[in-house]
Amino acid sequence: MIRDGARARFPDSQAGFPTGTIAGQRPGAKGAGRVLLIGCGPGDPDLVTVRAMRRIGDADVLVVDRLVGEEVLAYARPDAEVIAVGKEAGGPSTPQDEINRVLVREALKGRLVARLKGGDAFVFGRAAEEIAAVRAAGIAVEIVPGITAAHACAASIALPLTLRESVRQFSLVTGATADGDVNLDWSSLSAPGQAFAIYMGVRTARTLRQKLLGAGAPATLPVVVVENGARANELAVATSLADLVDAIDAFGIKGPAIIFGGLDWNDANLTMPEKVHVFHASADRAAGRAHAASASDAF
Ligand SMILES: C[S@@+](CC[C@H](N)C(=O)[O-])C[C@H]1O[C@@H](n2cnc3c(N)ncnc32)[C@H](O)[C@@H]1O
Repeated sequence: MIRDGARARFPDSQAGFPTGTIAGQRPGAKGAGRVLLIGCGPGDPDLVTVRAMRRIGDADVLVVDRLVGEEVLAYARPDAEVIAVGKEAGGPSTPQDEINRVLVREALKGRLVARLKGGDAFVFGRAAEEIAAVRAAGIAVEIVPGITAAHACAASIALPLTLRESVRQFSLVTGATADGDVNLDWSSLSAPGQAFAIYMGVRTARTLRQKLLGAGAPATLPVVVVENGARANELAVATSLADLVDAIDAFGIKGPAIIFGGLDWNDANLTMPEKVHVFHASADRAAGRAHAASASDAF
């Protein structure tokens, strides 16, 4: 769906194309085909940068990932073409080579091609492959940063990602790999004072939990899962590493979600927002109580 809007807000955005423009080229001018690699944030159109909004409004064609919020397309020109190349987690996807071909094909027509990605293109966004393919065809690429999911999710639940005294290292890691084998530096992630955000970790949560516990992370390590962060249907659940899998089952979390580890509002002298659900099946079991939300006792 495309709605008018960007033109009204930025009527002179082509004339004012502020940075990164190739000298003497107007975006969209014939023969000046180029690719804009744009991070579009977590899905909320308010979390798109001003530069991204302007570039989206300039583009002739938009090549769009599944996690880009539909409302973000309201910033596009009404006559812009939209090509969806979404990738379902574990489901059907447009092969990366095909996406690369589309970018090159459209730019070689002399069009201004906006490649829209969820979050930030440089965080688990396969940006390197796309930049290399486009440059190999002699086409210029401009990169527009976006708000990555971990930052948007943390902001939405007011959970600081570092703390001056106690959390000095924060890692972004992936819970899914192309070959299916999750291979991270488990002992480093499990060390005291470490915090992390796991992307694409819902389906591998059982393995993640087992590996972290095996590397010495405490069963009580605070864990917060944020699904659809910064969107209308956001769901946030605070739990422990021991209860991660049960929490995901109990709340029917499918993703997209970020799994935070090693972060706690208490350590930051902050109160947890009311919208965050609390799930502690292990503690309830130990106390002989059945947890209302618990869907599974399987560990
Ligand atoms: C292929 S990665 C892309 C990450 C993206 N480039 C970024 O910077 O956020 C997809 C993963 O990002 C995370 N993600 C993206 N949008 C999200 C959102 N709104 N809420 C929670 N997690 C999200 C999920 O872990 C999802 O499986």
